[in-house]
Amino acid sequence: MTKKHTDDAVEEIERITLDHYETNAEAFWQGTRDHDVSQNIEAFLKALPQREGLDLLDLGCGPGRDLHYFKGLGHRAVGLDGSQTFCKMAQEHSGCDVLNQSFAELDLGEQCFDGIYANASLFHVPSQLLPSVLSACHRALREGGILFSSNPRGNDEGWNGQRYGHYMEFDVSQRFWNDAGFEVLHHYYRPEGMPRQQQPWLAIVSAKRN
Ligand SMILES: C[S@@+](CC[C@H](N)C(=O)[O-])C[C@H]1O[C@@H](n2cnc3c(N)ncnc32)[C@H](O)[C@@H]1O
Repeated sequence: MTKKHTDDAVEEIERITLDHYETNAEAFWQGTRDHDVSQNIEAFLKALPQREGLDLLDLGCGPGRDLHYFKGLGHRAVGLDGSQTFCKMAQEHSGCDVLNQSFAELDLGEQCFDGIYANASLFHVPSQLLPSVLSACHRALREGGILFSSNPRGNDEGWNGQRYGHYMEFDVSQRFWNDAGFEVLHHYYRPEGMPRQQQPWLAIVSAKRN
Protein backbone atom coordinates (compact mmCIF):
# COMPACT_ATOMS: atom_id res chain seq x y z
CA MET A 1 0.00 0.00 0.00
CA THR A 2 1.22 3.50 -0.80
CA LYS A 3 1.85 5.78 2.18
CA LYS A 4 0.77 9.35 1.45
CA HIS A 5 3.13 12.20 2.27
CA THR A 6 3.09 15.88 1.39
CA ASP A 7 5.85 17.11 -0.93
CA ASP A 8 7.48 18.78 2.08
CA ALA A 9 7.46 15.50 3.99
CA VAL A 10 9.12 13.68 1.05
CA GLU A 11 11.77 16.40 0.94
CA GLU A 12 12.33 15.94 4.67
CA ILE A 13 12.61 12.16 4.28
CA GLU A 14 15.31 12.60 1.65
CA ARG A 15 17.14 15.30 3.62
CA ILE A 16 17.32 13.33 6.88
CA THR A 17 18.26 10.06 5.17
CA LEU A 18 20.96 11.72 3.07
CA ASP A 19 22.26 13.64 6.11
CA HIS A 20 22.74 10.30 7.82
CA TYR A 21 24.91 9.05 4.95
CA GLU A 22 26.80 12.37 4.79
CA THR A 23 27.60 12.21 8.50
CA ASN A 24 28.70 8.58 8.34
CA ALA A 25 30.30 8.58 4.88
CA GLU A 26 33.80 7.45 5.83
CA ALA A 27 32.55 4.79 8.28
CA PHE A 28 30.13 3.51 5.61
CA TRP A 29 32.99 3.20 3.12
CA GLN A 30 35.20 1.35 5.60
CA GLY A 31 32.32 -0.93 6.56
CA THR A 32 31.19 -1.80 3.02
CA ARG A 33 34.23 -1.48 0.72
CA ASP A 34 34.94 -5.24 1.03
CA HIS A 35 31.33 -6.44 0.94
CA ASP A 36 31.00 -9.37 -1.40
CA VAL A 37 28.20 -8.43 -3.81
CA SER A 38 29.53 -10.62 -6.63
CA GLN A 39 26.24 -12.57 -6.81
CA ASN A 40 24.38 -9.33 -7.57
CA ILE A 41 26.96 -8.02 -10.04
CA GLU A 42 26.96 -11.36 -11.86
CA ALA A 43 23.16 -11.49 -12.03
CA PHE A 44 23.10 -7.95 -13.49
CA LEU A 45 25.90 -8.51 -16.02
CA LYS A 46 24.55 -11.90 -17.11
CA ALA A 47 21.27 -10.27 -18.19
CA LEU A 48 23.10 -7.68 -20.33
CA PRO A 49 24.65 -8.06 -23.81
CA GLN A 50 27.99 -9.87 -23.42
CA ARG A 51 30.36 -7.14 -24.61
CA GLU A 52 32.49 -4.32 -23.26
CA GLY A 53 31.58 -0.68 -23.51
CA LEU A 54 28.03 -0.85 -22.14
CA ASP A 55 26.47 2.31 -20.74
CA LEU A 56 25.71 1.51 -17.09
CA LEU A 57 24.24 3.64 -14.32
CA ASP A 58 24.94 2.80 -10.68
CA LEU A 59 21.88 4.35 -9.01
CA GLY A 60 22.65 5.19 -5.38
CA CYS A 61 26.29 4.27 -5.93
CA GLY A 62 27.50 5.31 -2.46
CA PRO A 63 31.30 5.63 -2.27
CA GLY A 64 31.80 3.80 -5.57
CA ARG A 65 32.81 0.19 -4.83
CA ASP A 66 30.75 -1.30 -7.69
CA LEU A 67 31.22 1.66 -10.05
CA HIS A 68 34.96 1.02 -9.89
CA TYR A 69 34.36 -2.65 -10.73
CA PHE A 70 32.12 -1.90 -13.73
CA LYS A 71 34.68 0.53 -15.13
CA GLY A 72 37.43 -2.07 -14.70
CA LEU A 73 35.43 -4.42 -16.95
CA GLY A 74 35.59 -1.86 -19.75
CA HIS A 75 32.10 -0.41 -19.41
CA ARG A 76 31.12 3.26 -19.52
CA ALA A 77 29.84 3.49 -15.99
CA VAL A 78 28.22 6.54 -14.44
CA GLY A 79 27.27 6.88 -10.78
CA LEU A 80 24.44 8.76 -9.12
CA ASP A 81 23.94 9.61 -5.47
CA GLY A 82 22.12 12.20 -3.41
CA SER A 83 25.03 12.55 -1.00
CA GLN A 84 27.64 15.05 -2.18
CA THR A 85 30.32 13.36 -0.12
CA PHE A 86 29.58 9.96 -1.65
CA CYS A 87 29.64 11.52 -5.14
CA LYS A 88 33.10 12.92 -4.49
CA MET A 89 34.34 9.62 -3.00
CA ALA A 90 32.85 7.58 -5.84
CA GLN A 91 34.49 9.87 -8.42
CA GLU A 92 37.85 9.51 -6.69
CA HIS A 93 37.56 5.75 -6.23
CA SER A 94 36.39 4.98 -9.75
CA GLY A 95 37.41 7.84 -12.04
CA CYS A 96 33.82 7.80 -13.36
CA ASP A 97 31.41 10.69 -13.67
CA VAL A 98 28.97 10.77 -10.77
CA LEU A 99 25.71 12.70 -10.83
CA ASN A 100 24.64 14.39 -7.63
CA GLN A 101 20.86 13.96 -7.83
CA SER A 102 18.21 12.97 -5.36
CA PHE A 103 15.59 10.36 -6.22
CA ALA A 104 12.85 12.99 -6.07
CA GLU A 105 14.58 15.06 -8.73
CA LEU A 106 16.03 12.51 -11.09
CA ASP A 107 17.07 13.81 -14.49
CA LEU A 108 18.45 10.75 -16.27
CA GLY A 109 17.64 11.51 -19.89
CA GLU A 110 16.12 9.11 -22.41
CA GLN A 111 17.40 5.81 -23.77
CA CYS A 112 20.97 6.42 -22.71
CA PHE A 113 21.76 3.33 -20.60
CA ASP A 114 21.93 -0.40 -21.31
CA GLY A 115 21.62 -1.20 -17.64
CA ILE A 116 20.80 0.37 -14.29
CA TYR A 117 22.19 -1.21 -11.14
CA ALA A 118 20.52 -0.19 -7.88
CA ASN A 119 22.22 -2.05 -5.05
CA ALA A 120 20.66 -1.37 -1.64
CA SER A 121 19.30 2.02 -2.69
CA LEU A 122 15.70 1.86 -3.97
CA PHE A 123 14.34 0.87 -0.56
CA HIS A 124 15.03 4.47 0.50
CA VAL A 125 12.41 5.70 -1.98
CA PRO A 126 9.05 6.34 -0.27
CA SER A 127 6.29 4.22 -1.88
CA GLN A 128 4.56 7.33 -3.17
CA LEU A 129 7.70 8.35 -5.12
CA LEU A 130 8.57 4.86 -6.38
CA PRO A 131 6.42 4.94 -9.57
CA SER A 132 8.12 8.15 -10.76
CA VAL A 133 11.62 6.84 -9.91
CA LEU A 134 10.93 3.58 -11.77
CA SER A 135 9.50 5.54 -14.73
CA ALA A 136 12.65 7.69 -14.86
CA CYS A 137 14.71 4.47 -14.95
CA HIS A 138 12.44 3.06 -17.65
CA ARG A 139 12.82 6.17 -19.84
CA ALA A 140 16.59 6.22 -19.31
CA LEU A 141 17.02 2.61 -20.49
CA ARG A 142 17.34 1.55 -24.10
CA GLU A 143 14.90 -1.04 -25.43
CA GLY A 144 15.32 -4.29 -23.50
CA GLY A 145 17.58 -2.52 -20.97
CA ILE A 146 18.11 -4.15 -17.59
CA LEU A 147 17.18 -2.82 -14.16
CA PHE A 148 18.79 -4.67 -11.25
CA SER A 149 17.78 -3.98 -7.67
CA SER A 150 18.59 -5.52 -4.32
CA ASN A 151 16.77 -4.35 -1.21
CA PRO A 152 16.00 -5.43 2.33
CA ARG A 153 12.56 -7.02 2.18
CA GLY A 154 9.47 -6.86 4.39
CA ASN A 155 6.01 -5.34 4.61
CA ASP A 156 6.71 -2.01 6.19
CA GLU A 157 7.47 1.62 5.50
CA GLY A 158 8.91 4.22 7.83
CA TRP A 159 11.93 5.32 9.80
CA ASN A 160 14.73 3.05 10.89
CA GLY A 161 16.77 5.45 13.00
CA GLN A 162 17.78 8.34 10.72
CA ARG A 163 17.06 6.44 7.51
CA TYR A 164 13.68 6.08 5.83
CA GLY A 165 12.89 2.72 4.26
CA HIS A 166 10.12 1.09 2.22
CA TYR A 167 10.38 -2.68 2.57
CA MET A 168 8.55 -4.88 0.08
CA GLU A 169 8.20 -8.58 -0.51
CA PHE A 170 8.45 -9.91 -4.06
CA ASP A 171 4.73 -9.72 -4.99
CA VAL A 172 4.46 -6.04 -4.07
CA SER A 173 7.75 -5.18 -5.80
CA GLN A 174 6.64 -7.00 -8.92
CA ARG A 175 3.45 -4.92 -9.09
CA PHE A 176 5.42 -1.66 -8.94
CA TRP A 177 7.90 -2.97 -11.54
CA ASN A 178 5.19 -4.18 -13.93
CA ASP A 179 3.22 -0.93 -13.61
CA ALA A 180 6.35 0.98 -14.64
CA GLY A 181 6.80 -1.20 -17.76
CA PHE A 182 9.36 -3.72 -16.48
CA GLU A 183 9.16 -7.48 -16.82
CA VAL A 184 10.75 -9.35 -13.93
CA LEU A 185 13.18 -11.89 -15.43
CA HIS A 186 14.06 -13.51 -12.12
CA HIS A 187 14.51 -12.87 -8.44
CA TYR A 188 16.42 -14.42 -5.56
CA TYR A 189 17.02 -14.00 -1.84
CA ARG A 190 20.30 -13.32 -0.05
CA PRO A 191 22.55 -14.41 1.51
CA GLU A 192 22.76 -17.51 -0.69
CA GLY A 193 22.18 -20.96 0.80
CA MET A 194 20.39 -19.85 4.00
CA PRO A 195 16.84 -20.68 5.17
CA ARG A 196 14.39 -18.01 3.89
CA GLN A 197 13.90 -16.38 7.32
CA GLN A 198 17.65 -15.72 7.37
CA GLN A 199 17.62 -14.12 3.92
CA PRO A 200 16.67 -10.46 4.50
CA TRP A 201 17.62 -9.32 0.97
CA LEU A 202 15.49 -9.59 -2.19
CA ALA A 203 17.23 -9.12 -5.55
CA ILE A 204 15.27 -8.55 -8.77
CA VAL A 205 16.53 -8.65 -12.36
CA SER A 206 14.08 -6.99 -14.73
CA ALA A 207 13.92 -5.78 -18.34
CA LYS A 208 12.33 -2.75 -19.96
CA ARG A 209 9.38 -4.05 -21.96
CA ASN A 210 6.97 -1.35 -23.16
C1 LIG B 1 22.74 1.47 1.65
S1 LIG B 1 23.53 2.67 0.66
C2 LIG B 1 24.05 1.69 -0.75
C3 LIG B 1 25.26 2.25 -1.45
C4 LIG B 1 25.88 1.38 -2.53
N1 LIG B 1 24.98 1.12 -3.62
C5 LIG B 1 26.36 0.07 -1.95
O1 LIG B 1 25.91 -1.01 -2.39
O2 LIG B 1 27.24 0.13 -1.07
C6 LIG B 1 22.16 3.64 -0.01
C7 LIG B 1 22.61 4.73 -0.95
O3 LIG B 1 21.46 5.41 -1.43
C8 LIG B 1 21.73 6.81 -1.40
N2 LIG B 1 20.46 7.53 -1.21
C9 LIG B 1 19.59 7.44 -0.17
N3 LIG B 1 18.56 8.25 -0.33
C10 LIG B 1 18.76 8.89 -1.52
C11 LIG B 1 18.02 9.86 -2.25
N4 LIG B 1 16.87 10.34 -1.80
N5 LIG B 1 18.50 10.29 -3.44
C12 LIG B 1 19.68 9.79 -3.92
N6 LIG B 1 20.44 8.88 -3.26
C13 LIG B 1 19.98 8.42 -2.08
C14 LIG B 1 22.64 7.00 -0.22
O4 LIG B 1 23.36 8.21 -0.25
C15 LIG B 1 23.51 5.76 -0.31
O5 LIG B 1 24.63 5.96 -1.13
